[in-house]
Amino acid sequence: MADPFTVLHFTDPHLFASRDEVMRGVCTYDTLAHTLGVARERDWPPDAILVTGDIAQDESRLTYEVFRQCFSELGVPVYCLPGNHDNVAFMKATLDSPPFQFCGHAENDQWVMVMLNSQRPGKASGKVATTELERLRSLLEAHPNKHFLVALHHHPVATGSRWLDTVPLRNPDEFFGILDQHSNVRCLLWGHIHQVYDQQRKGVRLLATPSTCSQFLPHSDEFAVDESHPPAYRILQLYRDGSVETTVRWCEFITAG
Ligand SMILES: [Fe+2]
Repeated sequence: MADPFTVLHFTDPHLFASRDEVMRGVCTYDTLAHTLGVARERDWPPDAILVTGDIAQDESRLTYEVFRQCFSELGVPVYCLPGNHDNVAFMKATLDSPPFQFCGHAENDQWVMVMLNSQRPGKASGKVATTELERLRSLLEAHPNKHFLVALHHHPVATGSRWLDTVPLRNPDEFFGILDQHSNVRCLLWGHIHQVYDQQRKGVRLLATPSTCSQFLPHSDEFAVDESHPPAYRILQLYRDGSVETTVRWCEFITAG
């Protein structure tokens, strides 16, 4: 396997069936296309692409087709999991055949990447269902000698932003209760909060990546867009020894229209 194994993380593109649609002043198709274009100039080729939800803003089946067309010809596996805005049935129907994969896991000689569904239908907050928790537990028990990266949409720890912390993962204790029993979990990764997060918890790196469209203002009590930060993606390099190197790649602002 490649050492390091390189993953590009894109999250919360909030696409629409129409490529011209604008949300919070940005054309979300243009910002995703631009972000991917920067990645193709700077960090290409990766070994995998990971997309942690809110692919669609409008829950339209056609939107997943728009996403599929952006990522289908890259020659790179694209691992996808749903966010609160996604339609799971449409997403699964469109994004669960190569090079795409819906949830599940991916592994190589040294690492296992687990993609969890934390969506609660009709809710902005999330929960990792019992079946998903058991899937995580089984994988950890089956691979005690591999390093784990666990990805989901919702934040399992507080962000310090009051409004965002009303829509987090609702069952962090159950989630961490499983993770804490294993010393080979290296990294947790999520989207949803449209801003950078990079902390450690019991030796595990906790990471969130800004959106490919617009960002939220950190530490805000009320919903607020962060006009000072452009679209972004993250590069992660997963090493054989379990270490992780990662950087957020900020791109340029793309003005709608
Ligand atoms: Fe979200």
